Amino acid sequence: MATIAQAADAPEKPQWRTSPTASEALDAFFREHPEARPVHTQRWDVSRSDIYVEDTWGPIFAEMRAQEPINKVTGTPYGDYWNITSHKAIQHVESLPDLYSSSWEYGGITISDPDWEKMLAEPEEERFQLPMFIAMDRPKHTGQRRTVAPAFTPAEMVRMEQDIRMRTAELLDSLPRGEVFDWVDKVSIELTTGMLAILFDFPWEDRRLLTFWSDWAGDVELSLARPLDDERRSVLHEMAAYFQQLWNQRANEDPKPDLISMMIHSPAMNQMSPMEFMGNLVLLIVGGNDTTRNTMSGIIHALDKFPDQRKLFEQRPELIPNAVQECIRYQTPLAHMRRTATEDSDLFGHAIKKGDKLILWYLSANRDEQVFDDADKLDITRENARRHLAFGYGIHRCVGARLAELQLRILLEEMHKRRMRVHVAGDVERVRANFVHGFRKLEVEITSF
Ligand code: HEM
Repeated sequence: MATIAQAADAPEKPQWRTSPTASEALDAFFREHPEARPVHTQRWDVSRSDIYVEDTWGPIFAEMRAQEPINKVTGTPYGDYWNITSHKAIQHVESLPDLYSSSWEYGGITISDPDWEKMLAEPEEERFQLPMFIAMDRPKHTGQRRTVAPAFTPAEMVRMEQDIRMRTAELLDSLPRGEVFDWVDKVSIELTTGMLAILFDFPWEDRRLLTFWSDWAGDVELSLARPLDDERRSVLHEMAAYFQQLWNQRANEDPKPDLISMMIHSPAMNQMSPMEFMGNLVLLIVGGNDTTRNTMSGIIHALDKFPDQRKLFEQRPELIPNAVQECIRYQTPLAHMRRTATEDSDLFGHAIKKGDKLILWYLSANRDEQVFDDADKLDITRENARRHLAFGYGIHRCVGARLAELQLRILLEEMHKRRMRVHVAGDVERVRANFVHGFRKLEVEITSF
């Protein structure tokens, strides 16, 4: 495993403005090597990304929930896996974390497996592996989660609220009126990276690096294009080098309330290796990035698709907290998490074998008609919107959920204060992925209500 010192050999100033983003690199790769494109032949192989980019996943999951909510598909580009599609079954699996593991040692938390052969062939000191607590089991997970949890307490949310509100207000005031622009780039990315920069006290002028790194770190489809491994690795090295500098700087200063300083000065840090520290920083960047960003875009898209709900939001701002939950349910910005069985078991009558891969489709659970009436409709008055599983469930339930909710609430409140109505007015491009569920581009125009 590489040390941070080795990682710090990367160039001091990353060339991010000229480098391709992860999805651009992936698109280019498949254009040049069409033969490498994964071939999916089965209807219930919902690992194929075309159904997310074309937004046609709904009926397929509905079919599975009706006919066989737990089913196994074999021989896919991601190997064999179980589809777990109902709300009840996902909660059940997540409530047994020792039996259904999140650990990277068994394959981690996404549908793509590590390239074990290549990894094991590399000398250990050259492997660049970032251990993150989202991909660990108890007891290690418990200790590391505890290190970052204090940054997300209700008191911390109060402390951060003013700053986030100010940045959101400033940004909304700067948006053009009567002109079509891309909401993803101008608002969702800007606000999300801004929030992470506040959380880490990260240099403001470099904040878009967080987006760039996060895209490379979190793109599951990259595992289908192994020749891009080296490019990905060099981006991660750049990131590690940058954080190494921040770390050195903060370690020599008095404790401050930012997350990096909090982690450095926490007693639990003594038990964390430098690479674990780095891994957990990356986890916070990736965890807080695509998710909140895509909900911010999802809110706009959903309110435009359901004008009656937009009207309700405009007339009854007291519904905003519930609207936030409903929009998170409706968007579900992470389509799945994965678990691996550590023992043979029976799952509601299905024989799960040790080593089997279980894919928990949150996207499907949040449309489960057994739990949510008229689940395909956005309903900001929905009484049980909070029962969505977009943040997961159990010991790994999203540690940043409060912060995400705060940001989304502030966005809606500040839009409301400005009597802003946002219309979809041009191209809508979705992310081509089975993990991150969201928008690459969302062209809009602002009017007033
Ligand atoms: C709408 C926004 C968000 C969504 C939908 C979301 C979703 C998720 C999900 C599904 C998990 C895994 C849960 C499980 O396995 O049961 C997770 C874990 C996590 N999330 Fe979030 N997340 C969001 C925002 C954030 C933010 C803002 C941060 C921090 C800045 C964050 C940091 C994390 C971390 C550190 C974990 C690992 C928790 C653990 O393993 O104990 N997330 N999130």
